Amino acid sequence: MTARDTDWDGVRLHVVTGKGGTGKTTVAAALALALAHSGRRVLLIEAEGRQGIARLFDRPPLPYEERKIAIGPGEASDGRDPGGDVYALAIDPEGALLDYLHMFYGMRSAGVALTRLGMVDFATTIAPGLSDVLVTGKATEATRRRQPGSASGFAYDAVVLDAPPTGRIGRFLNVSAEVSGLAKVGPIRSHADTVANVIKSPQTAVHFVCTLEEMPVQETLDGIADIRAVPGMQVGGIFINMARPALLSQQDLKAPPDLAAMSEALHAAGLHDPGSLAAALTAELGEHARRVELADRERTELEAAGQPIYELPLIAEGIDLAALHRLAAELRDQEAA
Ligand SMILES: Nc1ncnc2c1ncn2[C@@H]1O[C@H](COP(=O)(O)OP(=O)(O)O)[C@@H](O)[C@H]1O
Ligand SMILES: [Mg+2]
Repeated sequence: MTARDTDWDGVRLHVVTGKGGTGKTTVAAALALALAHSGRRVLLIEAEGRQGIARLFDRPPLPYEERKIAIGPGEASDGRDPGGDVYALAIDPEGALLDYLHMFYGMRSAGVALTRLGMVDFATTIAPGLSDVLVTGKATEATRRRQPGSASGFAYDAVVLDAPPTGRIGRFLNVSAEVSGLAKVGPIRSHADTVANVIKSPQTAVHFVCTLEEMPVQETLDGIADIRAVPGMQVGGIFINMARPALLSQQDLKAPPDLAAMSEALHAAGLHDPGSLAAALTAELGEHARRVELADRERTELEAAGQPIYELPLIAEGIDLAALHRLAAELRDQEAA
C-alpha cells in the first residue's frame, strides 16, 4: 500500500450523482479506476441500467453479474506496485428483485415466475421506493461483503455507484423514509435499516459531478443541501467536469490588445486583410474572456459549499479508455483517490 493520504480514506462506498449529461458515468468510472491502485479491488455499479459502463470500457452489455473489466494504474514502473482490479455490475430493478428474493427467502425460481407474470414491473411501479431500496441494497451488500483472506477482510476495498441524477438523489438514498410507507416490519424493513446503516455512516460519501454552467451548479448546490438535510449522510467532493483551460493570463483577459494595434501587428506580419482578421480575433477574445469570467463565477459559487473540489479537463477528442485513464490519473494527482 502507498502511504499517501487521500481525501476519502475512510470511505468505502462512493455514490456519484450529478445533473444528467455532466459526465456522471464517466467520472464514476474514472474514480473507480483511480481507486483501483496498489492491488485494491473496486466494484463499479451502474444503477440505471443504461449500459453506459460497458460502452465506456468497450465491452458488450454487462449481465447482472460482477465482472472484471479493467486494471487500475500501477504506481511504480518496476512492477512492485501492481494496479488493482475494477469489477463492474449493471443493476436493473428486475435482477435486483430476483437477487433479493433469493437472498432473503431462497426463492429464485419463484422470482423467475413472478418476472414471467410481469409482477416485477407491477411491484416496482406501485412502489417506486422498492426499486431504489433494491439498488442501494445491492450496493451496500457489496460494500459490507466479507472475504476471508483478502488484505482488508472485505470482498471490495471500495464500491463506486453511478447513481441517479441530482434531482432524485436525496429520495434515492433516504431508503428508510422511502420504505416506511411500504413496510413497517418484516424483511423489507430490516433490509432497509441495514442499507441505511451503511449509507448514513462515515463509510459512505455522496459526490457531485458538475460542469461550470448555471443550471448544473444550481442543481449541485440544491443536491448538497438535500443530502445535508438527512442526518448521518456525508457529502463528498465536487467534481468539476469538462473544464476548459483559460488560454490567456488574467491580465490579458482583462485588457485585451486594442483593434488598431492588433491590425497593425498583423499587417507587419504580412497577413492579408489585417483589419477584418483583427476584428474577428478581437471578437473571439471577448467571447473567451466572457466564458472564463462566467466559469470563474460558477466556480466561486461551488467553493462556497465548502466541499473539496476536483477539476477534470474537457477532453476534446472524446472519452475512450486512454482518456478514462488520464482522468483517473488527474483524480489521483488531486488526491481524490
Ligand atoms: N471530461 C470530458 N471530456 C470530454 N467529454 C466528456 C468528458 N466527460 C464526459 N464526456 C462526454 O460527455 C457525454 C456525457 O457523459 P456521461 O458520463 O455519459 O454523462 P452522464 O452519465 O452524466 O449522463 C459523453 O459523451 C461523454 O463521453
Ligand atoms: Mg450516465
